[in-house]
Amino acid sequence: MKMSIGIDAIAFAVPRAYVELTELAAARAVPPSKYTNGLGTHQMAIADADEDPVALATNAARRLFVRSGRRPDEIGLCIAGTETAVDHSKPIAAYLHGLLGLPTACRVFETKHACFGGTAGLMAAMDWIASGSARGRSALVLCTDIARYELGSAGEPTQGAGAVAFIVSENPRLIELELGRSGSYARDVHDFWRPLHRKDALVDGHFSVQCYLDALAGAYAEWNAITREDGGPAEPLVRTCYHVPYGKMARKAHRHRKQIDGLTEAEADATFATEVESSLNFSAQIGNVYTGSLYLALASLLHAEAGQLEGQRIGLFSYGSGCAAEFFAGRVCEGAQDMVDQLDLAGPLAARERLTIERYEELRRADAIADRRPVPTPPPPPSAQSLLHAAAYIGVDAEDRRVYTDQA
Ligand code: CAA
Repeated sequence: MKMSIGIDAIAFAVPRAYVELTELAAARAVPPSKYTNGLGTHQMAIADADEDPVALATNAARRLFVRSGRRPDEIGLCIAGTETAVDHSKPIAAYLHGLLGLPTACRVFETKHACFGGTAGLMAAMDWIASGSARGRSALVLCTDIARYELGSAGEPTQGAGAVAFIVSENPRLIELELGRSGSYARDVHDFWRPLHRKDALVDGHFSVQCYLDALAGAYAEWNAITREDGGPAEPLVRTCYHVPYGKMARKAHRHRKQIDGLTEAEADATFATEVESSLNFSAQIGNVYTGSLYLALASLLHAEAGQLEGQRIGLFSYGSGCAAEFFAGRVCEGAQDMVDQLDLAGPLAARERLTIERYEELRRADAIADRRPVPTPPPPPSAQSLLHAAAYIGVDAEDRRVYTDQA
């Protein structure tokens, strides 16, 4: 009998502050509807210096453990996918291992392929469990990023920041994924890149949109072929979550996929509201979170309609510039709505502070020195490690080691 493996629980963390895109539009002398309708984003999360990718991921994982009832000592694999690494050598996953109090008998590493890193982690976690290496333990996958483009550039309104954490296990409570049935696509392209010396990404914007659509077509064709070949389920996908750099991109992706299925443009667009729209609510308030984007879409979908989707099949599409993509599917578990209620998925959006554009620009300028800011003297006293405690990046010590508020 095939094992049942998938996502057992999910949670996310966002920075304390956000920018209203209508205000950014006014500051950049752009009609506000270009951002809100043309791109489909309303607010974008802005990280302060203490909210680095390690702190964001720690806070997402702590929320995940507290809300799901799962414990750090159940974890045997911890993978952090990121485009925003904090060190050329020491992985974010190693910091998380300490800050979350994970067992020493644990495989811990970081994955990089632009926005695809989290999906690389999910696929590795699925295979780790299916192979028997997990021996009853679960995997913790973290996706954590700060999306930054140059101030005033076309990419600026597609920034964002946040982390998504999820547990991959046997007999999951949220979504069972179709094991071994995933369509991959890869091609060496320069659509989005970030040289080692830069904090802001460089992008060939319109080309990146085309690369995304080509990758979707390739991964979807491969997934269809594999599913047919091994006699997979023939039921339709009632919803599909896409990688969401901005909402309009998911709309374009869905239209493209439906046209591949033989629908006209009008017929394809008519399915958008039912099949995709509810997965975009969270990202419209947060912006692009790179590696976490697809999983934020999944959280948004489950938050909106887990109850009515129980037992039904959904599709997932992950895209990472450069590029790599994967199309796969799963089934929403019976009882998922109870789990979603327990997880309070939208909780982190409840109390955020709206930044003025001046303050946002100040924070962005401070990015340049954030990785070199010294730990204050005297350093804040270490707090007891606690799953309820919010982690924060303090600065670097005299040996350039990064220091966090509640490191052991
Ligand atoms: N009212 C309503 N809509 C308007 C409008 C207005 N006043 N003015 C323009 N629009 C519409 C345009 O018609 C366009 O819609 P369509 O795409 O349907 O044609 C949309 O708003 C955007 O307008 P432009 O194409 O003129 O915008 P732009 O050239 O300034 O920038 C962008 C758009 C290229 C996506 C840019 O934001 C960018 O470079 N973003 C970063 C790269 C990115 O996100 N790429 C996505 C694919 S790659 C990926 O997914 C990986 C990743 O995460 C980075």
